Amino acid sequence: MKIKDIYDLIIKKGIENDPRGKDAVLKTLKKTSEEYKNLKDEEKKEFDKEKLTNPYADTRVLYGDMDLNVKRILVGIDIEVAEILLADRISVKGEKIDLIISHHPVGKAFANFYEVMGMQADILQKMGVPINVAEGTLFPRIKEVERKVLPLNHMRTVDAARLMNIPIMCAHTVADNFVATYLQSLIDNKKPDTLKDVINILKEIPEYAYAFSNNAGPKIIIGSDSNRVGKIFVDMTGGTEGAKEVYERLSQAGVGTMIGMHFSEEHKKELEKHHINAIVAGHTSSDSLGLNLLLDEILKEEKIDIISCSGFYRVSRL
Ligand SMILES: [Fe+2]
Ligand SMILES: [Fe+2]
Repeated sequence: MKIKDIYDLIIKKGIENDPRGKDAVLKTLKKTSEEYKNLKDEEKKEFDKEKLTNPYADTRVLYGDMDLNVKRILVGIDIEVAEILLADRISVKGEKIDLIISHHPVGKAFANFYEVMGMQADILQKMGVPINVAEGTLFPRIKEVERKVLPLNHMRTVDAARLMNIPIMCAHTVADNFVATYLQSLIDNKKPDTLKDVINILKEIPEYAYAFSNNAGPKIIIGSDSNRVGKIFVDMTGGTEGAKEVYERLSQAGVGTMIGMHFSEEHKKELEKHHINAIVAGHTSSDSLGLNLLLDEILKEEKIDIISCSGFYRVSRL
């Protein structure tokens, strides 16, 4: 498969698994096209045209020829200079790496990754929060994340890939969409009664079983084993942690338990205040699950050798 084919496929599959639903995603793409049409010629030159077909700012090919044929991919949760050097060493030792995929965004896809956070408003609305409240709490938080990423050295990893001449792409929200949708439907189908039941469901998933064996398995951080779950919200996509102010409204909307990859202390306090139970499923384990489901879609098309690194635990469901 060519890099271009892999990129097109992961966008398509990311949209299909988007918890907002395909129609909502297509609506945002249409809006972007209209905005583009109304730009002045000068502004059109600066516009990232990928946005017209790819609704995820944090998923891009950062370096490499789109027509290059890919037989082996090095996949990691975080790709930094060390992993680029690792890719080069693995190639030198005989297993040529044609492409590196980072889960967490790098380069220009990191500089504005916060743009994907807008999707959280639609997800919150689906969970019962009025759209005005969802947007009202979320928008200041997006601005905060934007200010936080402004001073960072975004291009460091991509520069290393360029120097080593190894193609690199990142696949963030497209993979997180898979894990969010997969777990939400699994939990909804199994209808757990208590928090302990949720942990037992998660334990059966190989990525979480592996995490357990490494002392990083799913954990209840608010509530006890016997607490009843109420309505469960699997909150695992949309860039990064949203606004803590929304938990009050989620609680009123009937959400009894949040399952996330991680919760900051600030968010934990707010969840406690509003009596919402919380389970940390695990960060690299949940990211691995999302990536695995996404990679399986690529491998359904063509057999490609996957080498895992940087916290990524490969499990094939094919
Ligand atoms: Fe993720
Ligand atoms: Fe992550």
